[in-house]
Amino acid sequence: MSPSPDPALVPVPAPVPDAATVPDAVPRDPSAVTTGVMALEARNVVKSFGTVRALRGVSFEARPGQVTALVGDNGAGKSTLIKVLSGVFAPDSGEILVDGRQVQISDPQAASRLGIETVYQDLALAPDLDAAANVFLGRELRRFKVLHNQSEMRRRTAERFTELGVGMVQDLRVPVASFSGGQRQSVAIARAAMWAQHVIIMDEPTAALGVIQTAKVLDLVRTVRDRGLAVVFISHNLPQVLELADLIEVMRLGVRVARFRRGEADVDRLIAAISGAYSNEGGSR
Ligand SMILES: Nc1ncnc2c1ncn2[C@@H]1O[C@H](COP(=O)(O)OP(=O)(O)O)[C@@H](O)[C@H]1O
Ligand SMILES: [Mg+2]
Repeated sequence: MSPSPDPALVPVPAPVPDAATVPDAVPRDPSAVTTGVMALEARNVVKSFGTVRALRGVSFEARPGQVTALVGDNGAGKSTLIKVLSGVFAPDSGEILVDGRQVQISDPQAASRLGIETVYQDLALAPDLDAAANVFLGRELRRFKVLHNQSEMRRRTAERFTELGVGMVQDLRVPVASFSGGQRQSVAIARAAMWAQHVIIMDEPTAALGVIQTAKVLDLVRTVRDRGLAVVFISHNLPQVLELADLIEVMRLGVRVARFRRGEADVDRLIAAISGAYSNEGGSR
């Protein structure tokens, strides 16, 4: 069963060429970066926690059928930005647009209705529930309208774990509190991948994963991108970002300081932007 987003807000994505095989999939015209309808957009978003100004007028754009990487040092505001975009935090000011239309994302359920699913850095799982119950939390499959259809939820969860290369199908009845960090991360990724219809946001999804699972997650990112979803990917692994991203947005001290299209950046340039030595943004718009 899938959630029922407002169909007017979640159009069927157009077929998208694979950027890896079609070098010109990302337009070369520099103005193209700021034109066209974005799947998800933030404009001048400000968010403070008491005296801490986590976001100081940040702008951000994610395009359908592309991977947008968000990079920046610890404390740059990346997680706060994606929590604003997923309805966890209300912004103090600024605009959020989905498909070019201004929206208010008042809570994570509102984000889900817009087709936006998020893998939070802190994962946000229910520790006492098993993996399948977490994947289906709030969207439980039912038998006779009331009873949870646990066997079907476990079957579908196991199927998704197999796709993700998560070797824990035998543990589906165990509360996720007893899982390793990597296993918990896989549950959160499986949940987001199961439900995202428009945008999937992943905050450091490979941080706790081993080599093989990391490769599987990167495959998953490419698969959902090729389905036409916008993928927002936060990572400190710059070679991974350079390999995966169609666009890279760099945040520093609560604002966007630089953006690069595929092929425009290298590790040195990214580090320069992250550390404040390089900028190609003219301040907040
Ligand atoms: N819930 C919160 N309460 C208070 N301060 C917060 C909270 N979340 C984030 N911050 C602060 O906001 C700033 C940005 O943090 P964060 O968005 O987590 O950065 P990043 O994800 O880029 O490392 C930091 O100074 C952090 O301490
Ligand atoms: Mg973070």
